[in-house]
Amino acid sequence: MSGKSPGLEVRLAEEIRASGPIPFVRFMERALYDPKSGYYTSGTASIGKAGDFFTNVSVGPVYGEILAGQFVEMWRLLGCPSDFHLIEQGAGDGQLAGDILHALAGTPLEDVPLIVIERSEVLQAAQADKLAGKNVSWIPCEEGLPELCAVHYSNELFDAFPVHLVRSDGESWEEMCVGCENGAFVWVVRPPGGDLAEILKEYPRRPAGFTTEICLACRPLLRTLAARIPRGFLLAVDYGMSRESLLAGHRSEGTLACYRGHRRDANPLESPGGKDITAHVNFSLLRDDAVAAGWEFGSFTDQHHFLVGASAAHLLSLEGKVPDPAGGKKLRSLKMLLHPEGLGQKFHAIMFSRGVNGAKLSGFQFAGESRL
Ligand SMILES: C[S@@+](CC[C@H](N)C(=O)[O-])C[C@H]1O[C@@H](n2cnc3c(N)ncnc32)[C@H](O)[C@@H]1O
Repeated sequence: MSGKSPGLEVRLAEEIRASGPIPFVRFMERALYDPKSGYYTSGTASIGKAGDFFTNVSVGPVYGEILAGQFVEMWRLLGCPSDFHLIEQGAGDGQLAGDILHALAGTPLEDVPLIVIERSEVLQAAQADKLAGKNVSWIPCEEGLPELCAVHYSNELFDAFPVHLVRSDGESWEEMCVGCENGAFVWVVRPPGGDLAEILKEYPRRPAGFTTEICLACRPLLRTLAARIPRGFLLAVDYGMSRESLLAGHRSEGTLACYRGHRRDANPLESPGGKDITAHVNFSLLRDDAVAAGWEFGSFTDQHHFLVGASAAHLLSLEGKVPDPAGGKKLRSLKMLLHPEGLGQKFHAIMFSRGVNGAKLSGFQFAGESRL
């Protein structure tokens, strides 16, 4: 075994020796969030051009500016409450929060308090540095939220949640677990149990070897958020697709992927803690979990349609400004975010509300029928 954090490999191997093979979800949880050596918790994570992977936020401030416009619309749809809050969960290096707060200057939400829910202490510190002097507070998990009228938003939060890996044997589904043999981590399959088995009862038959991921971690989060936000919105932008697309024949190897230095690999058992591990979000399951938790489903669309709908003001502001250098830069960023063959179709936006009647947001005006 080699890699950036041998300490974690040794401790994982000890856990497996003591208790037998562990579900992959447990392995991924420790690889990403082990308090000492996890990819996000140890300071290894690096986002952006010089880091391990890009997100929408790396493209430039225009993404935060567009989201800021959506939040002002949401605040109006809530009747302009004076006790309104923004909540960002999973804020990475704090860049998106900074872009949003900067864009809200001069709007009615200029002084809106922002609560960041961030489970990595190292990233909390980086965010605090970037957001110094702003009206921002931090909590490590959603249980710490008071009851609020708020918009909860996230960018690539759910694709960083640990997932169960399941594989078809041609007849039924098995859970993939991690064992340790001769000093190396190996795959072992086990019958699924609990909530995972319940979900798999509804899964269609797939050919032997077909592998896919299931995330059970959204359920408790969405329940807690519903309890804390009696009036408000939830907006999530993430990699992912519907359950049907995830189970399409050509996706027989699933979507789990690892990233380090912009190189992608498909071996999550190698170098735990030294690289990102991510899986596409199953938006059908997210929708079902949110509705069961008490959220009203609003809309779902790809990033291309979401941003075209949400960025009318930006497009107008660019009229006559190109080839002005600032306008040209903004236009290039917008093109990258919107391009249907790039980020525009890889990412999707989903919106839920609570305590708001028939909320219509400009970002979802071109969404069409939900395909979840
Ligand atoms: C893929 S990064 C995305 C960062 C940023 N939103 C962006 O788009 O650049 C995932 C972030 O979510 C955080 N995270 C993961 N699970 C979390 C949870 N349950 N609560 C709060 N933060 C979480 C990670 O520590 C990290 O900051």
